Amino acid sequence: MSLKALVLSGGKGTRLRPLTFTLAKQLIPLANKPVLGYVLDQVAETGINQIGLIIAPETGHYVKEYVKDGNEWGFKVTYITQEPLGLAHAVKTAKKFLGSDDFIMCLGDNLQGLGLTTYVKKFKAKNMDALILLKPVEDPTKFGVATLDDNNNIIQLVEKPKNTQSNLAIVGTYIFSSKIFDAIDQIKPSWRGELEITDAIQKMVDMGYNVKAEALNTWWLDTGKKDDILTANAKVLDQYAKQQIFGTVIDTKIEGRVDIQKRAKVVNSTLRGPCVIGDCCVIENSFIGPYTSIGDGSKIVDSVIDYSVILDHAQITGVDRLEESLIGKNAKVTKNHRNGCLKLHVGDYSEVEI
Ligand code: DAU
Repeated sequence: MSLKALVLSGGKGTRLRPLTFTLAKQLIPLANKPVLGYVLDQVAETGINQIGLIIAPETGHYVKEYVKDGNEWGFKVTYITQEPLGLAHAVKTAKKFLGSDDFIMCLGDNLQGLGLTTYVKKFKAKNMDALILLKPVEDPTKFGVATLDDNNNIIQLVEKPKNTQSNLAIVGTYIFSSKIFDAIDQIKPSWRGELEITDAIQKMVDMGYNVKAEALNTWWLDTGKKDDILTANAKVLDQYAKQQIFGTVIDTKIEGRVDIQKRAKVVNSTLRGPCVIGDCCVIENSFIGPYTSIGDGSKIVDSVIDYSVILDHAQITGVDRLEESLIGKNAKVTKNHRNGCLKLHVGDYSEVEI
């Protein structure tokens, strides 16, 4: 029996507005590569080549533009459009694609270190119907949470519990047999109106199916909000940034792992890694600090930027210190030196901290 992958790249992305008005949240870049790209790398590494990609009606075309026919990863891709009515609803919508095959399900905005092949092997060897991965977290109320007994058997699974004794979050990567469909048929939408995958897995436990939990032995981050994106960007830069300079560098101090991509021009500045400067960027009289990604075509002049993610074609001028910031595509941030007042042109749902 072949193993397929179902990658969820739909949803509403409300927590990341306004960026998600013009981008699917799974395409927000970390070290200038979309989160979804890392998820697809992770699936490709397991040797799976048939993948179903769940997309939302509003943002699906952005995902298609990026993944195309999946050739870059050696995939045969089937796009499945879904109204965002829950993770279990997404699985139900993909029933025709999945058929009776086992499948690995990944959330397109969850990022984790590589190494899923071991779990796939265990799932097959032990004839499991569901395998979930768990990781201790500081605030379990933001996640699906598992309570285990002393022998690591699942006692209870709850989605976003208000109070819980367990700190074990359910990571956004799951492996299922087609028995998951029996369970989904028996669950009802939760208080947030969604068919929850956590409820479906609990139902599988109740029905006596072979459901197991394992500790995830690598790092994991959910990139659902601004601060999570900054943390994930730092993690990715830490892990993957190399010192490579393809652009032009004049009168500039480079410290640590700084990646300057082609056709970028850096003049009279200091760049301190790990950081990445995208294709065709212009950086002048500026300091770019550690854990910062500057998207393609951006222009940074007379500014200091640290621990931030700047998307493509942004312009930042005369800003003394920009820190822990997420700046969208084509955005302009300028200091007005003449009268020191703030003049803002800020999009819907933006957040400005002054
Ligand atoms: O991050 C792990 C958590 O992911 C788990 O601990 C939870 O049990 C699980 O329910 C999920 O919680 P979130 O609230 O973070 O899920 P979110 O709504 O952010 O959706 C996760 C991904 O799935 C995201 O890339 C959007 C996509 N999605 C979401 C829904 C609700 C879909 O493709 N279709 C949907 O209907």
